[in-house]
Amino acid sequence: MHRHDVVVVGAGLAGQRAALAAVEAGRDVAILSKLHPLRSHSGAAQGGINAAVGPEDSVDTHIYDTVKGSDYLGDQDAIEFFCQEAGPTVVEMEHFGTIFSRAPDGSLARRPFGGAGFPRTIYAADRTGLALLQALWEHLATRRFTLYEEWDVTRLIVRGGRVQGVVAFDRKTGSFDLFAAQAVVIATGPAGRIYARTTNAHSCTGDGVAIAYEAGAQLKDMEFVQFHPTALVESGILITEGARGEGGILKNKNGERFMSRYAPHVLELASRDVVSRAIVTEIQEGRGFPGGYVHLELMHLGREKIESRLQEICDYSRRFAGIDPVVEPIPVLPAQHYMMGGIGTDRRGATNIAGLFAAGEAACVSIHGANRLGGNSLLETLVFGKQAGLAAAEYAAKAPAPELVQSDLEEAEAPLRASAARADGEEPQKLRAEMQATMDRYVGIYRNEADLLEGVKRIRALKARFARVRIVDQSRVYNLNVTDTLETGHMLELAEVIVVGAYARTESRGAHARTDYPRRDDANWMKHTIAIRSPEGPQLSYAPVAYTRWEPKERVY
Ligand code: FUM
Repeated sequence: MHRHDVVVVGAGLAGQRAALAAVEAGRDVAILSKLHPLRSHSGAAQGGINAAVGPEDSVDTHIYDTVKGSDYLGDQDAIEFFCQEAGPTVVEMEHFGTIFSRAPDGSLARRPFGGAGFPRTIYAADRTGLALLQALWEHLATRRFTLYEEWDVTRLIVRGGRVQGVVAFDRKTGSFDLFAAQAVVIATGPAGRIYARTTNAHSCTGDGVAIAYEAGAQLKDMEFVQFHPTALVESGILITEGARGEGGILKNKNGERFMSRYAPHVLELASRDVVSRAIVTEIQEGRGFPGGYVHLELMHLGREKIESRLQEICDYSRRFAGIDPVVEPIPVLPAQHYMMGGIGTDRRGATNIAGLFAAGEAACVSIHGANRLGGNSLLETLVFGKQAGLAAAEYAAKAPAPELVQSDLEEAEAPLRASAARADGEEPQKLRAEMQATMDRYVGIYRNEADLLEGVKRIRALKARFARVRIVDQSRVYNLNVTDTLETGHMLELAEVIVVGAYARTESRGAHARTDYPRRDDANWMKHTIAIRSPEGPQLSYAPVAYTRWEPKERVY
């Protein structure tokens, strides 16, 4: 049994920022992570972080762009707070040692990003996430806290309506341990591996969101899944929006700059949902290249600009696609990139369960609504990571001591023991692959009733088969068969929430594009989806959207 005031699950930017805030508030803090903090997926964020910092830009414009980008489903009070915090957050990260790219006059360089009315994305070449992660980790590492590295969290323990702690599995020894804590912050990041074609790392399996859901947390707006327009065709590796921000253009097989048909004012710098749909439409209507992709051209930008501002994507294109972007177009296709939904929180990270907090991509505050703007994700991790850490620390200082009992451990271990004892059963990897294929095929960029119904049936059939999953490997040290099983179970839970929510929402809004309901329906659907777990599957209800100053309008780019 380990005891701490605050346990943060996840060691990416949101988790680290939460831990820093809770440590600075005087609490005994532990971070539990399945990866070393510097291997977290936050490091894969390329293009930048948004903040209205110059005299020509304004916080109000950032708020408006985010509200419009969300297709009016974002909570405007939360968005206002978020955008006001952006400048101080970037300055703080610079003071922590982040080396941002500079304009010739020495000020922070900013590039245009999709859906933004002003070039406000601050960057460190095209490895902004990595630059932030390194600086934050170096800062946090000077503080006193406990890091449990290479632990898979398996269960959140809630009793008497309060969090008591978590159970986690130590990959290094095969041990299941109890972690008692007054407050738990879930910051486990993305769940993109629910899909086969994704920009997300293999570690992005939504574990924290799933254990919170299993313990009674409300999930919000899970049907809204972002597909990034430009990922390398074969591998799905992200080719940053910064490439289009720097002037990259999209062309179909006829050499047409096709975005003029879909977003005549801003072309490639429309929001991600618009650009992704445009690419898929071009391919579906026969204007894609053989095999189904389009070209992203950078050659006209010149070697100097490409190799200095887009270093990482040059490297990825050369290594993983055999393409040199200085002299050839990059073959791209949309890929799952981000979950707008997550554990429902207020702007301080609090959830419907006392003592449970969440931040970053695992949470839904909601600031992104139906579609997130590029550059708002890195900002979200830092702004709301700090808030969740502060709120968890305050809560932990007053909450009664947690009570964990031996049976908490035994109940958490029991399903895995049963899976390991099974002589015959389902392979987790096979179920995972079938889930990913189902989500790609039936719950993708364009959706319709028949596909979604088929998706519901298939995911539920996979869940039923998962009840007979078998762990073949009996070793205790680095048994990745156990990890695969845990992750697959978590992803199946979340896949069901996504597809059930998408089936129910009979409108098109942001990233949720229904070909059978092509219009946004504010009269019936200007509301958040809330999902609660039940033995029959997710129970859906709806909650109002918070408005402050911006009336819903048609979204045109
Ligand atoms: O395209 C990108 O660089 C991704 C940025 C983001 O998701 O915010």
